[in-house]
Amino acid sequence: MNQQREFPDWEQLYQDKNVESMPWFNPDLDPDLDQALTQLNLHSSTALDLGTGPGTQAMALAQRGFKITATDLSATAIKKAQTIAEEKGLDISWKQDDILNSTLNQQFDFVFDRGCFHVFSPDRRPDYVRVVASLVKPNGYLFLKCFSHLQIHEEGSYGPYRFRPEEIEEIFSSQFNVLSVKETIYHGNMSPPRRALFCVLQKS
Ligand SMILES: C[S@@+](CC[C@H](N)C(=O)[O-])C[C@H]1O[C@@H](n2cnc3c(N)ncnc32)[C@H](O)[C@@H]1O
Repeated sequence: MNQQREFPDWEQLYQDKNVESMPWFNPDLDPDLDQALTQLNLHSSTALDLGTGPGTQAMALAQRGFKITATDLSATAIKKAQTIAEEKGLDISWKQDDILNSTLNQQFDFVFDRGCFHVFSPDRRPDYVRVVASLVKPNGYLFLKCFSHLQIHEEGSYGPYRFRPEEIEEIFSSQFNVLSVKETIYHGNMSPPRRALFCVLQKS
């Protein structure tokens, strides 16, 4: 499970393709995030959508009154999402940023990561945990959606890493309390939808 994987050149991908054709494109707010926000009674908080890609999650959160910053490694992804958000009249702070070497200097009530963490190789995970923890306010949350170990469709050296709940605990416990890890699906254009974990972590 921990062998090196191959991933697209993200910037090239966003230059070449229409975001709506991307497997992870989901115009609606992720239902697992929606449920978690309701359960935790989070309204109008500040939030970072990291690895925002098409920006649909950032836009859906902004429409619900959250104050959103959205970042991605790809400058083109950010440009495309910003254009759509402006057409919709949404006020979102967009920024090209590599989460592993982030230049953000702000802390958020929560960070949402839907599909970014699971592309990082095992040796970069400690950097990810350190940076993301530094971006979350004390007692704030990280909502993480990543592929699940139950996903068996993409064997071989391509595709996101897949995680067991106990691995999430192992990787994040130095900085976060893992409140819940739920087996779910990754909502998008994939048919059948890929198996995913939705994790609620609170900064310790
Ligand atoms: C599977 S896509 C998910 C996009 C979006 N979160 C969504 O749910 O539609 C993963 C995203 O992570 C971005 N990404 C990859 N490496 C990154 C990095 N080091 N820092 C920030 N974003 C990164 C990619 O450009 C891509 O948009």
